Amino acid sequence: MTHPSPTPPLSSTSTTPRAGFSSSFGVLAATLGSAVGLGNIWKFPSLTGANGGAGFLLVYLLATLLIGLPVMVAEMAMGRQARANPITALRTLAPRGQPWWLIGMAGMGAAFLILSFYSEVVAWVFAYVLKALRGSLLSSDPAVTGAAFQALISDPVQSLLWQWGVLAFIGSILLLGVTKGIEALTKKLMPLLFVLLLLLCAFSLSLSGASQALAFLFQPEWHKITAPVVLTAMGLAFFKLSIGMGTMMTYGSYFGDEQNIPATAVRVMAADLSVSMLAGMAIFPAVFTFGFEPAAGPSLVFITIPAVFAQMPFGQVLMAAFFVLTAVAATGAMLSLMEVPVVTLHERWGISRPRATLLTLLGLVMIGAGCALSQSTLAAFQPGGRNLFDWADFISSNLLLPLGGIFIALFVGWVWGTGAFRQALSNRGRLNNGTLAQAIFFVLRWVSPLLILAVMLRGLGVF
Ligand code: PFF
Repeated sequence: MTHPSPTPPLSSTSTTPRAGFSSSFGVLAATLGSAVGLGNIWKFPSLTGANGGAGFLLVYLLATLLIGLPVMVAEMAMGRQARANPITALRTLAPRGQPWWLIGMAGMGAAFLILSFYSEVVAWVFAYVLKALRGSLLSSDPAVTGAAFQALISDPVQSLLWQWGVLAFIGSILLLGVTKGIEALTKKLMPLLFVLLLLLCAFSLSLSGASQALAFLFQPEWHKITAPVVLTAMGLAFFKLSIGMGTMMTYGSYFGDEQNIPATAVRVMAADLSVSMLAGMAIFPAVFTFGFEPAAGPSLVFITIPAVFAQMPFGQVLMAAFFVLTAVAATGAMLSLMEVPVVTLHERWGISRPRATLLTLLGLVMIGAGCALSQSTLAAFQPGGRNLFDWADFISSNLLLPLGGIFIALFVGWVWGTGAFRQALSNRGRLNNGTLAQAIFFVLRWVSPLLILAVMLRGLGVF
């Protein structure tokens, strides 16, 4: 389970050997477990629907390939090289006295912000498992499923209690130290989610609205690709791949010496994209068949999915299974998000892992309440036209993650340097991937920072 640390972080206060992933498959399960989550099943369809369909999808694919992939490789390489949490890793890799570790600090902020709204969406998923089992959701009438969702999110007590339930659940997994348990669970259940999505997809594509849905997803209407749409698509690419805030750096620090980093990144990206596409093809045919609104936003999945299941044999059981598996996928992502503050508090400030976990949870109960209550008690509080839930989502995906991406690319391209980067990607000369490493390095040095900055400034209306 452990591997020797080639460059032990000087400032680490930990005395026990650092844990790591046991095998290449374990690496894939964990990194994919982080990438696949609500982003695929909830965020991808709602953003694609709200931003005009195919054009958004195309920009999202480009952002994933051109920006996401190189940044993911950079993070994994830095993490493995330093074998430490993001703050310590940047302190170790950067020349003395330069404040690159601030990227790690910003990443901790992003982790809290994402978790505060993510845990609320997982809360809705948990609540839906129960509702599905009771059979109270099965209807293809938008008015019925819409009202059921509205009733849930506008009830402050339910919103808070479900969120606390989710946080307690995730906390107990981390506290028990059963990462192996969840790893094993994820390995078994993720393929099931895949199968269920395939089934759903096949069924959905047989509905009468399928051709309209496919046109919506694959025929771009160019005028719909505006600057804010491009920024949202890029933000989604960062969010989806769990990059820009140190998560993949943290997971990279658990990789073995022989792990082929570029190959791992490509596999994670490809698998993640397939899950999103399946989710899109499961949801949009139903949207068009039953007359839902594709631009419904965050509620889209919660009102359309029940409608598809309502048409299927054994719909009630299958729907419960679908939400359970969604919860499992989201759990892997939440664990990776929490791992960032927990391992940082542990390694940098010498706080024991259980205490670090409790502290993180406490922080989340406090700031998460803002998101949980944003559609009920705090619904009227909309500074700048967004409620707290939407702000947390907007700031993390469209500002913090891309900014993190810029600085990670700048760090590798201008500070860490080509020699160290190539050395790290080649597993100290054992892999013959110099040309590939050089190409990724070029993108990180020149293309990624400028492209991300341009998209951000245009998207935010600065120029
Ligand atoms: N990638 C996850 C998803 O799509 O659901 C969300 C996520 C996990 C974002 C970890 C960022 C992160 F660091």
